[in-house]
Parts: sequence; C-alpha cells; structure tokens
Amino acid sequence: MTALAITPPMTEARAREVAAGFDLRALPPDFYANPYPVYAALREREPVRAMPDGSWFLTRHADLVAVYRDAACFSSDKKVEFAPKYGAGSPLFEHHTTSLVFNDPPLHTRVRKLIMGALTRRAIADLEPGLVQLVEGLLDGIEAKGGGDLIEDFAAAIPVEIIGNLLDVPHAERGPLRGWSLAILGALEPRLSPEQEALGQRSVREFTDYLRRLVAQRRRRPGDPEHDVLTRLIQGEAAGERLSESELLQNCVFILNAGHETTTNLIGNALVALQEWPGERERLSALVTRHAPGDPALEPPLTLAVDEFLRFESSNQLGNRRALRACEVGGVSLPEGALVTLCIGAANRDPALFDDPDTLNLAREDNRHLAFGFGIHQCAGLSLARLEGRIAIGRFLRRFPDYRLTAPPERGGRARFRGFLHAPFAVR
Ligand code: HEM
Repeated sequence: MTALAITPPMTEARAREVAAGFDLRALPPDFYANPYPVYAALREREPVRAMPDGSWFLTRHADLVAVYRDAACFSSDKKVEFAPKYGAGSPLFEHHTTSLVFNDPPLHTRVRKLIMGALTRRAIADLEPGLVQLVEGLLDGIEAKGGGDLIEDFAAAIPVEIIGNLLDVPHAERGPLRGWSLAILGALEPRLSPEQEALGQRSVREFTDYLRRLVAQRRRRPGDPEHDVLTRLIQGEAAGERLSESELLQNCVFILNAGHETTTNLIGNALVALQEWPGERERLSALVTRHAPGDPALEPPLTLAVDEFLRFESSNQLGNRRALRACEVGGVSLPEGALVTLCIGAANRDPALFDDPDTLNLAREDNRHLAFGFGIHQCAGLSLARLEGRIAIGRFLRRFPDYRLTAPPERGGRARFRGFLHAPFAVR
C-alpha cells in the first residue's frame, strides 16, 4: 500500500505547462497528495511567478531568505488583505491583525519581546516531565488497543495539552481549544467557504470570551511567573511592556493556536513518512532502542531527525508578505503593494541548498530549512516544537518499531497547513 503519491518525473513540456498554469486559488485535486513536482516545476521555470490575481509566488530558498531578511520592505501587516477577506472590525480581522505574526515593528517588537521573555528555557524545560508522562500514557492506550489513529490518538492529542500546560489552562476547560484553533487558522486558507468563515468568526468570539475570564482570574490569583507563561505575560504589562487588553487576549489566542496544528502535523507527517522510508525508520528505531529514553545522548540525533521531518514535509507550507515599496526579488521587479506568497515547502526542497532534496535523510547536517520561517518573525516556539517532536516521535518508535498503516492516510486537503486528518495504524 502506498501512503503518499509518488509521481514519476514530469516531462519538460508538462513541467512548463504546470508552471505556466499555476494558480494558488485553483489547485488541482492531486496537488494536495504531492505538491513537490509542481513546486519543482515552478522553482526551475518561474521561481518568481506572477499569479492571475496579481500576487507573486516564490519558490527558491535564496529568494525566500532575501524577503524574510528585508522586513523594512516586506511587511507582515495584513490589514490591507484581511479587511476585504473578513470585513474590517470582524472578530477574525481583529484577531489576525492584532497577533504579533501579522504585525510590523514597533507593535511586533514589543509583543515578541514579552513572549520570548515568557517562553524561557526554564518554562519549556518544566514542560518536559508532563510531556513524557502524557506521551507514555497515550502509548499505553495504543498498546492496549493494538493500534488506532496516528493523528487522533497520538499526534493531535499532544500539542493541545502542552500548550494548555504552558498557559496553565485548567484541564477541564481544554475541550474546545483544538476546534477553535483549527477553525481560526483554517480561515487563513487562500479560498474560504462561507461556512468556514462563519465558524472562524464564531471561534474567535468564543475563544476571546473564554480567555477574558481566564485572564481576569489570573489577575486575581496570579500563578508563579517562573513557571506560568500567562502570569508572566500579564505581569509583563506592569513591567513597561504594556499590552492593551485586546493585544493580550489576541496574542494568547495566537500562542495557543500557533503550536497546535503545526506540531500535530510535524508528528503525524513524520510517522507517516517513516512508512515510506523503511531504511530511515530502521535507523531511527535502532537509535532510540539503543539508548534509555531520557538519555541526553539521544537529543542531538533526534533533533537532526526532527529538523529533517520539518524540511521534508513542512507543517506550514506558505507564508505571506506585502511590499511596502517597489523592489526586486530574484531578478524580477515587484511593484509597491505586491502581495508575495513564500512557499516554504518548495524552498525546503531546493537543490541549490539541499543535496538530494527529495530524499528523507534523518542524519542530514547543516539543515537550513525554513519550516520555522526566518528573520524577525522566526517561530517563537521552535524549541518547544522540537522538544515535542523529539519526545513524541522518539518514544513512539521505541515502543512500536513495527507499527504499520492499515489504510491510506487521509489528508487535511489544505495548501497552507500540510498534514493528515486520519492515519489508521496497527502495532501488532
Ligand atoms: C512544528 C511546529 C511549528 C512550526 C512548523 C511553526 C512555524 C512557524 C512559522 C513558519 C512562523 C513564522 C511566520 C512568518 O514569518 O510569517 C512561526 C511563527 C510563530 N510561532 Fe511557530 N511553529 C511551530 C510551533 C510553534 C509553537 C509550539 C509555538 C508556541 C509556543 C509557536 C509560536 C509561534 C509564534 C509566537 C510565532 C510568531 C513569531 C513572530 O511573529 O515574531 N510556534 N511559526
């Protein structure tokens, strides 16, 4: 059984046709199973592609880095794009345009400083014992059932608890977090149905109402700021980094969302990809069974493996910027106001930077992938994501080196967030 479509190489004529007809808003259904031949056709023939809607689609690693580096020209502020998309003043508009990721300095600098100050090494290290316990508990459940769904029973069950622990959200109140998160981030897709938009708007309203109550409680009864990121964010306000109530709530929603689907997809994509690459699976299984699970010697090779999974099947495939002035990228002149889509999935398979880019090589060194972005907006949660990836993937393989998919995994069918909804598997 083939889990992922492996398509034969395209003929030159077909590649030219694919590149010339590429439109992010009208993707063919088979694109989602395997977008990489399409990305390669673009990267080789139209690396800075003018799209039918007037925006630009970039696929070369060097061009993405150039854009990420030039934050003075390439803005992350999305008010211009999101006003017509969601309606100015709507909940989705308020949320996305107040999150740090969709802002430029100085608001971005202020919020990022506060968030980075709260996501300390200590706060992340504190999460490790709970993470190990959670993962082992999930593995016990899988062992008892003899298998299950890699996504529902494992990959998706981890980030919600870890981010919940990070902000100390009471366990009994975590139920709706994942649904809110999927709906709010899902509303970033290039094409949106009225139902998806309505669900996104409702989810922002419910999520911020919930957090308003949680923040009020935490103000009345602060936690220990050494361990509790929410208390630290609230107290940061008093330390001169003052955020408005809306900035505080919307950025907490963002932190809770940013680490959900991305991390679920890292773990799910990795465990599905290992089915396609049995040699890499054996190598990794041998590594994790040779060492005791908490052995610090495991950390460097598992980190290399996690980074390779992130390069090979990036959870977040697309980023966006808007040119504040006319500029040039990859030898192409872009006008002021140009909307630019950065294709992380394509850049991470660019042969100019990666040897044999379509091969999963878990020992790949000097892996300068862009799965966490680059520059001033580089992922603030990357250490936490890597920790979750190491523990989840490493312990899963240690326990079930012979797991196997029992039916083709079902893709999420989204261009931006690449992952699976279901992947049934057995361990016996
Ligand atoms: C595998 C997991 C993850 C991936 C692939 C990922 C990917 C990314 C990417 C590509 C960006 C940059 C967006 C841009 O430049 O436009 C970003 C930003 C961000 N991520 Fe992550 N992320 C992951 C996990 C997490 C986690 C666990 C957290 C929370 C603790 C988090 C928090 C953030 C924040 C706060 C930003 C905004 C940073 C800024 O704008 O300065 N991420 N992430």
